[in-house]
Amino acid sequence: MEKMQKKYRLIAEHYAKAIQNGALAEGERLPSLRDITALHGVSISTAVEACRALEKQGYVEAKPRSGYFVRNPIQNISSLKEVFEKKADETDEWINPADYIGVHERISATLSRALTQPLKVDLGGAVCAPSLYPGAALRDNMLRMLRAKPSMYETGPRPDGVRKLKEAISRFLVSRGMHADADAILVTHGCSEALSLALRAVTGPGGVVAIESPTYFGILQIIESLGLKAIEIPTHPGTGMSIDALEFAIAHIGSIQAVVCMPAVQNPIGSIMSDAMKSRMVELCEKHNIALIEDDTYGAFLPSPADARPLKAWDKSGNVIYCNSFNKSLSPGLRLGWLLGGKWHKKIEMLMYAVSRHPEETAQLVVADFMAGGTFNRHMRRLNGLLMQQRTQFVEAILEHFPAGTEVTRPEAGLLVWVRLSDEQSTDSLFERALREGIRICPGSIFSNTNKFSNCLRLSYGMPFDARIESAVKTLARLVREA
Ligand SMILES: Cc1ncc(COP(=O)(O)O)c(C=O)c1O
Repeated sequence: MEKMQKKYRLIAEHYAKAIQNGALAEGERLPSLRDITALHGVSISTAVEACRALEKQGYVEAKPRSGYFVRNPIQNISSLKEVFEKKADETDEWINPADYIGVHERISATLSRALTQPLKVDLGGAVCAPSLYPGAALRDNMLRMLRAKPSMYETGPRPDGVRKLKEAISRFLVSRGMHADADAILVTHGCSEALSLALRAVTGPGGVVAIESPTYFGILQIIESLGLKAIEIPTHPGTGMSIDALEFAIAHIGSIQAVVCMPAVQNPIGSIMSDAMKSRMVELCEKHNIALIEDDTYGAFLPSPADARPLKAWDKSGNVIYCNSFNKSLSPGLRLGWLLGGKWHKKIEMLMYAVSRHPEETAQLVVADFMAGGTFNRHMRRLNGLLMQQRTQFVEAILEHFPAGTEVTRPEAGLLVWVRLSDEQSTDSLFERALREGIRICPGSIFSNTNKFSNCLRLSYGMPFDARIESAVKTLARLVREA
């Protein structure tokens, strides 16, 4: 019995691999049961078991009197549904099995719609109020630097970036509970470029990427711009991406090339993954040879960042690509980010050189000066304190003014809340009506390729809570009631 089971599994794996690598294409007929018995030297019952296993995993479908035919495993995500729903205790109502086709145009249309209207209050952008950034210190650094080196713009930037900044980032990473050599850091044009380079390095056209659901819409845009497909993994506002669901997806889809994940303060739902889950995730991806791309944009917003180490801290083989940015924490205007490329570092450097050469140096020097002597960590402690006060006031205002039954996250860090209205509400419509009142929000639909979040919205509490913000919350609440 034991022997037979093993044999049928080996046969099923053999055909699963052939389907994954395209040798057996969608619609093609699997060898007949008689051929399988002859080819593999097994009994007919072993051949039947192998085919049934493939059917159960969604690789093939049986057609009466014709045999087994190859299905597209990516389109067959509905077979995941059952398992995701079985995990209901763990991931409650946020469960969201989804496949992915492309949402770039829809997101761009939504984002550009907001540019055409005069805005009174912007609750849509994931950014703090200008007054919360250390603008004066950064300006002083810039002027000092230009006075000290007036010929700054007469030569090109160094290929290896500004050493002082890389050393400052390396010191900052110690305060995130990890170690990275300055030479292992590549400075980029924000986290967007870092994520885009990382995905380009580890995937090929048509490749499949596992992402959180809901997720930051920029990741969906990058995925589409690179011609990739994605599977959305249910992500819980408390505990983050469901590793069980990811494991299931890996086992059933087979061809996942990368996982993109925000373990620290996920955008939009603010989840924070536990150390046990992070270690499991690193191990899982390593075991299946799947690149793990970590977006730590909001890691510096954690109340004690060293205690919530990034995934990269568990990485022993270079399988994790770590991406981060100063655009949310320090200065949206300088557009600076960085990455640690792990085993793909050289390839990523080459890709970046081919696409955008080296980032210009003034921004790097300004930030390096600012980070000297622990100023960045002091700035973050102050910023986080203010943001937590703003969060409390903002969440209370939502609970007070929105209709009963509205759910809102209360994130431990960051600047975003995720609000869920009753099922019949459409936040696409709310987005349009709010724009007419001069208020920008982010509708839930742009955070997924499914319609699972059409009654959700993301709001930012990055602006100090004042009468203007409270009035905007009241207006939104009125619009929700009127719908
Ligand atoms: C989670 C996350 N990753 C990446 C980005 C893009 O970062 P950057 O502005 O540094 O390109 C954002 C911006 O909102 C974000 O929220």
